[in-house]
Amino acid sequence: MARILLIAASTGKNLELAMKFKQTLERDGHQGVIMNLCTLDVPMYTPAAEEELDDLAVIEGIMDDIVSCKAMIVCAPEYNGSMPPVLNNMIAWLSVQSDNFRLLFNQRKVGLATVSGGGGYNVITSMRIQFSHLGSNIIGRPVIVNKTKPQRQSSIDEMIAQVIE
Ligand SMILES: Cc1cc2nc3c(=O)[nH]c(=O)nc-3n(C[C@H](O)[C@H](O)[C@H](O)COP(=O)(O)O)c2cc1C
Repeated sequence: MARILLIAASTGKNLELAMKFKQTLERDGHQGVIMNLCTLDVPMYTPAAEEELDDLAVIEGIMDDIVSCKAMIVCAPEYNGSMPPVLNNMIAWLSVQSDNFRLLFNQRKVGLATVSGGGGYNVITSMRIQFSHLGSNIIGRPVIVNKTKPQRQSSIDEMIAQVIE
């Protein structure tokens, strides 16, 4: 049984997509752990906020979830040709808070997925750049849902087959 972290960077269709990944993982006897970034209440990262933060519970909870999972699938909408701020913010905190943040991302399998208003290709490229920079191994084919590309169970199955390997 594989335990996979499903990160949702919005509470609408991207959260629904994360739930679809969870259902599919469970159908196959695996475990999907949903992390809804919009409800975690992570403060905005600034150097001053980093100096002032004394309660690290939220950040440590995220780190524990990442480390306890074999891989992660990130479902994020495209915002202005890039990543939504909640995702960028979470990654910024992790990269400065963890003594050993390489453990979180380096060599970790990451699947990329989006439900976006337009194409969604730019958010996939942005996530690919950031997670590759952190040393993650990105699954080659993303799951993209948009106005002209409906959600396909076969694409979800294909991504899950690769992250559980
Ligand atoms: C601030 C903002 C910027 C957006 N920029 C883009 C964009 O550049 N490209 C795009 O395809 N959709 C864009 N959208 C549309 C969202 O990607 C789309 O509504 C998506 O389905 C929202 O995901 P959700 O239903 O999970 O909240 C934008 C939406 C918002 C709120």
